[in-house]
Amino acid sequence: MSQRTLVLLKPDAVKRGLVGEIIGRIERKAGWTISALELRTLDRAILEQHYAEHVGRDFYEPLVAFMSSGPVVAMVVGGERVIEGVRALAGPTDPIAAPSGSIRGDFGTITRENLIHASDSEESAEREIKIFFPGIS
Ligand code: CMP
Repeated sequence: MSQRTLVLLKPDAVKRGLVGEIIGRIERKAGWTISALELRTLDRAILEQHYAEHVGRDFYEPLVAFMSSGPVVAMVVGGERVIEGVRALAGPTDPIAAPSGSIRGDFGTITRENLIHASDSEESAEREIKIFFPGIS
C-alpha cells in the first residue's frame, strides 16, 4: 500500500549534522522516495497548527521553543507502508526507551529533542503535508 508521510528532522538533528545520516536511512528503504524537501525555521504560528493536539500540555511551550530554535528539514516521503515504516525507523518518542538501531535509540537522550517527527496516520499525514507544503496536492 503506497502512502505518503510528513517527516521533520528537528533542530537538534540539523545542528548536530545528522541530516545525511537520517535521510540516508530513509533513502535506503526500497522504493521510498522524497517528493518534497525544504530547510526552514518554523515560527509559532505553524507550530501551533502542527502541534494542535498538544496545545496546553506541560511540554508544549518548551517544545515550541525548541522547535523554533533553529532550522528543520521538512520532507514528504512516499512509498510502501511509509507511515508505519518511518515511525519504525525513528523508534519510540523517548530516546532512552528506543532500541539501538532506531534513529532515536542511536542518537537521542532527551524526549523533547528526539531528532525526527513522522506522521502517525494517513489523516495526520494529509493534514501535516498541507501545513508544510500547501502547494503540493
Ligand atoms: P513527536 O512525537 O514528533 O511530537 C510531539 C513531540 O512533543 C514529541 O515528538 C517530543 O518532541 C515532544 N514530547 C512529547 N512528549 C513529551 C514529554 N513528555 N516531554 C517533553 N517533550 C515531549
